[in-house]
Amino acid sequence: MAKSSAALKSCFILLVMMVFGIIVNCSQASRWESTIKMPTEKEDDEEIGTRWAVLVAGSQGYGNYRHQADVCHAYQLLRKGGLKEENIVVFMYDDIATSDLNPKPGVIINHPQGQDVYAGVPKDYTGEHVTAKNLYAVLLGDKDAVQGGSGKVIDSKPDDRIFLYYADHGGPGVLGMPNMPFLYAADFIEVLKKKHASGSYKEMVMYIEACESGSIFEGLMPEDLNIYVTTASNAEESSWGTYCPGMDPPPPPEYITCLGDLYSIAWMEDSETHNLKKETIQEQYESVKYRTSNYNTFAAGSHVMEYGNRSIKPEALYLYQGFDPATATLNQNNIGGKRRLEVVNQRDANLLFLWHRYNQLKNDKSGKKEETLNQIKEMMTHRTHLDTSIRLVGDLLFGPHKGSSTLSVVRSPGSPLVDDWGCLKAMVRVFESHCGSLTQYGMKHMRAFANICNSGVSVDTMKEASMVVCNRNDLKLRIPSSGGYSA
Ligand SMILES: *[C@@H]1O[C@H](CO)[C@@H](O)[C@H](O)[C@H]1NC(C)=O
Repeated sequence: MAKSSAALKSCFILLVMMVFGIIVNCSQASRWESTIKMPTEKEDDEEIGTRWAVLVAGSQGYGNYRHQADVCHAYQLLRKGGLKEENIVVFMYDDIATSDLNPKPGVIINHPQGQDVYAGVPKDYTGEHVTAKNLYAVLLGDKDAVQGGSGKVIDSKPDDRIFLYYADHGGPGVLGMPNMPFLYAADFIEVLKKKHASGSYKEMVMYIEACESGSIFEGLMPEDLNIYVTTASNAEESSWGTYCPGMDPPPPPEYITCLGDLYSIAWMEDSETHNLKKETIQEQYESVKYRTSNYNTFAAGSHVMEYGNRSIKPEALYLYQGFDPATATLNQNNIGGKRRLEVVNQRDANLLFLWHRYNQLKNDKSGKKEETLNQIKEMMTHRTHLDTSIRLVGDLLFGPHKGSSTLSVVRSPGSPLVDDWGCLKAMVRVFESHCGSLTQYGMKHMRAFANICNSGVSVDTMKEASMVVCNRNDLKLRIPSSGGYSA
């Protein structure tokens, strides 16, 4: 009795499945019959899934205005393209719009003549919740692992597409976060592999702006994750801030900070002036690459790089960034922005900001002028402290003749920065516990720590060298790792 009922049941299920199969097939057939389609018009097929986006500004502070401005701008662009707020997760410290230094409170602009890009940007992960850990949890759609914030995650399905855009400072193998620790390339790639293994997306496109951003993917990024990446710079060069005070074109005179970053504004201004149903990822890559190189001069510009699965490039951009109907009538050949932009190295942008702040306070009597001058002096002294300490550690470990060359050696293209990422983190911690926090500026020395690992130096030896070098230093020079280690 029990047996035959089970057999009946499975027979019934089979029948239901067959009927369903017919219905599905029928509905598809009728859809194709109802409209005559050109072979190139595949949008009904491609639009089955949902478009998701993750936007990350990795910095904080008014001197880094541009990263949050870039990310807010990207949010507005995607919304105009029809992406829904519930499908866009924004990470930003959110200290710019309300900063005392902001000449237009509550407003953020990303272009000298730009409109406000801040209004309406969701505060998903702000302040202390902008962390690498939360970014990983959000990408993986892991609500339980998220700490604080709106709890919004990328709850994507197999047919969905994901666009990830990141803007901040970086260094070899790392991307900055306003809360420690930094994002480490190997951890990030592991998260991408995990996301891929979960089968929860069709394809992903990532745009990454940071110094040495190529090093996040160089020798590490697999081609079989259905992810295509472009980065603002190769593994060993700076990326650049633009629309900076005193440069051409300048921001409005009341702004003492850069409004944007070169690669970031290049892709966004390109997207805004093109019909994204027609423009392909490949075409945007080419024009952003050209503009970010400062029109192939590389005079203050960087090499846009690409990684991952390049077969995704022929796809139209609207599959990731959406489509703004207002762009439908734009002339494709009318590519704006041929003008060369003056730029500043990401790492010097903060210094530039403080200098303009100091000049702005020329007639100030409240003591703020001296305060700013002291900040500049401290920043310079701290930079020297870091540079000198790392150079001396290299001299101790490898001898005065081979020290600096060993620390600065760049591995051949296609090789990752370091073989043992656990070692890299351990070296950073040892250094920071004796010499103080690396800070945003110190990220540039990541290659030195990587090469110390690649040369087989033990953590104990590194500890001794750091102690010898840094214990002779004035304690004042050491910014304590109170915000936690950067590794
Ligand atoms: C790259 O993407 C294309 C298009 O989605 C796909 O057919 C191909 O299998 C992918 N390549 C790898 C190595 O996964």
